[in-house]
Amino acid sequence: MMHSEKEETIQIYPGWTEFYNIEVSDKLDAFIKRNRLFDIIFAQQFDRPFLDFMCELANQVRLLAKTKLGARVLSRLLSHKRAMLYFVQPSTRTFISFMNACHILGMKASEIRGTTTSSEVKGESAEDTIRTFSSYVDLIVVRHPEAGFAEKTAWVLNQTERPVSVINGGSGPDQHPTQALLDIYTLERSFEHIGGLDGKKIAMVGDLKRGRTVRSLSYLMKNYKDVTLYFVSPEIFKMKDDIKNFLKKHDIQFYETDDFASVMPIVDAIYMTRIQKEYATTPAKETDIYPTFHFRKKDLANVQSHCIIMHPLPRRYEIEVDVDKDPRAVYWRQERNGMWIRAALIAYLFGVDDEIACEFN
Ligand code: CP
Repeated sequence: MMHSEKEETIQIYPGWTEFYNIEVSDKLDAFIKRNRLFDIIFAQQFDRPFLDFMCELANQVRLLAKTKLGARVLSRLLSHKRAMLYFVQPSTRTFISFMNACHILGMKASEIRGTTTSSEVKGESAEDTIRTFSSYVDLIVVRHPEAGFAEKTAWVLNQTERPVSVINGGSGPDQHPTQALLDIYTLERSFEHIGGLDGKKIAMVGDLKRGRTVRSLSYLMKNYKDVTLYFVSPEIFKMKDDIKNFLKKHDIQFYETDDFASVMPIVDAIYMTRIQKEYATTPAKETDIYPTFHFRKKDLANVQSHCIIMHPLPRRYEIEVDVDKDPRAVYWRQERNGMWIRAALIAYLFGVDDEIACEFN
């Protein structure tokens, strides 16, 4: 009896390496419970109805949070829940926006911001550390330098008697699904009077090879009609084949070029990215800043009047500070949108989204 129970467990949960190597599209069900997304690990988990629903819910959270009465309603929704922010790779806005998203919903949040301040320094494994968090909290948000770490966290917890939701807050150079959500929210809000994101042309510029934000956002384009992507990068930072194969499979038009100037006038959005030097195998030199792929104040004259300039931030040299004053520069609004959409996502994960919607009926 004991033996067959063990076998059954092994059959349901393959070993980590085996699970990790399954095609993402074939394992998405592992992150669903009771017909809802339970863990947020990949951008491929989001379909169009979900994205539209998230944008609407984020709008509702944003509007409610602006009034004292509305903020009080929100702050009672999850006052009985607790979150752990396990951020062992540096972060400013993902961390602070998740922390404030928790505060908006009345959720208590605790944090670990480095492996040197947890018992991992004594040799405790990351898996045991994660299991320990789940003893105390109801949600774990993970930012980690290793690709696949957030997925592993969910995989570990889903085999325990106390699985809690896991959100990927950025896993190595691989994926940043909640950044993709806030990027979609920003694009949809910016284009709400000109037909939304459908039919738009978007340039992604810079380090596309190691930029997890542009990778996750590219996956989401399958949910929008007639979007065209322009991948603008130096040869060494070209978008990887896995993303290009995904786009081909879903009939999403894309072009690759290193001629940024020729792309600027034809696109509706320009998504700038930083050179991800933290993933470089040799130290980056100050000359490795690729000025051809920077956006300067003078470039504003070459883009359309409705074209928005985005950046996941932090920036280094990619966008001249003088661009900030132009209304087409939306990156500061974009980072603030992260707080609203992350609050909406947490509300959804805990099933209190209908209580938010009720406030608008
Ligand atoms: N965009 C983003 O992930 O920023 P942080 O690294 O500051 O969280």
